[in-house]
Amino acid sequence: GRFEIIHLNRIDSTNTYAYKLAKEGKRDIVVVADEQTSGRGRLNRVWFSDFGGLYFSIVLESDVDKFPVLNFLAPICMVKTLKNYSNKNYGIKWPNDIIVNNKKICGILSEINVEYGFMVLGIGINVNNKIREEIRDIATSLKEVEGKEFDKMEILKTFLEIFESYLNNLSPENILKEYKENSLTLNEYVKIITPNREIFGHVVDITYEGIVLQTDEKLEIVDVGDCIHLRK
Ligand code: BTN
Repeated sequence: GRFEIIHLNRIDSTNTYAYKLAKEGKRDIVVVADEQTSGRGRLNRVWFSDFGGLYFSIVLESDVDKFPVLNFLAPICMVKTLKNYSNKNYGIKWPNDIIVNNKKICGILSEINVEYGFMVLGIGINVNNKIREEIRDIATSLKEVEGKEFDKMEILKTFLEIFESYLNNLSPENILKEYKENSLTLNEYVKIITPNREIFGHVVDITYEGIVLQTDEKLEIVDVGDCIHLRK
């Protein structure tokens, strides 16, 4: 395959480590760890990273134009990957959470460095790890969904194969279309919390510029960077 895999037992965060390697010039590498001691989520949240889960970060050459496309591509590939192992209904909650049975099974944290021209795509999937008590209402694992354990490195391989096949001829239009087909947010009524206010509305479209909401007053577009929380 295209990617060199660096497998670590334990690290603070694969994203932090991959970012450092990227600054040193590395590209097309995947850092995977069995455990993370400071797994990071979006918006400075923590990502519990107990043994049994799959935690990895991909370093890709990217500019500002490619960034949103790769950001939509990752969850599409993850949905496809999970559907390889499970018949349940996996979908994407905007911007890039993977949901099954109304609970989150996978989260994605992407970071870009414009100066150095790379992005780090960090993906965490609850595979065999036990879901901690405090998030049991909102999170699930593949083991919990299917009632059996999975080979997480096998899942990583499947994901990378699918991901690679798209990378070879990146089509922003096609990716957006597939993203929308797998979206659990499109056409729903949602409340979005931003730093300044709450917006309630009907999701009439999703674009690379943001999510398009029809509120009582007008059509509003909310950028990913401005969304702190989205609720149905
Ligand atoms: C989120 O849902 O907020 C994103 C979670 C991303 C977690 C992954 S696990 C591998 C990579 N390393 C990290 O520290 N975070 C990402």
